[in-house]
Amino acid sequence: MNVIWAPKMTIFPHNHDMWAVIGIYSGREDNIFWRRLPTDSHRVEAAGAKSLRDKDCVQLGRDIIHSVTNPVGRLTGAIHVYGGDFFNANRSEWDPESLLERPCDPERIVQIFDEENYRMAATARG
Ligand SMILES: [Fe+2]
Repeated sequence: MNVIWAPKMTIFPHNHDMWAVIGIYSGREDNIFWRRLPTDSHRVEAAGAKSLRDKDCVQLGRDIIHSVTNPVGRLTGAIHVYGGDFFNANRSEWDPESLLERPCDPERIVQIFDEENYRMAATARG
């Protein structure tokens, strides 16, 4: 997939349930990696981070949980390769406030991209 992140856009923690390779060709991606709490496997805590810029590439294992931010004020472009049927996998996401697990809703993610694209267009119009 050719993923275009709007300026300053963030997507909440989620998993893929399959391997992935991400390569950045323009802009920046900041990834926070999360792990399940040993005392509450449905809640996550931050476990690491990786900042990516153009020409950087990262491999993500099947069990990785990450959130992504475009920290710069312009579009970020990245090629995401997934080792499975990304849109029909049994995936999870984590509420950004409570950090509690819930089933991944692909429509919620599409809505976030739509809202961010609208915000970017509104900002450009002034
Ligand atoms: Fe992801």
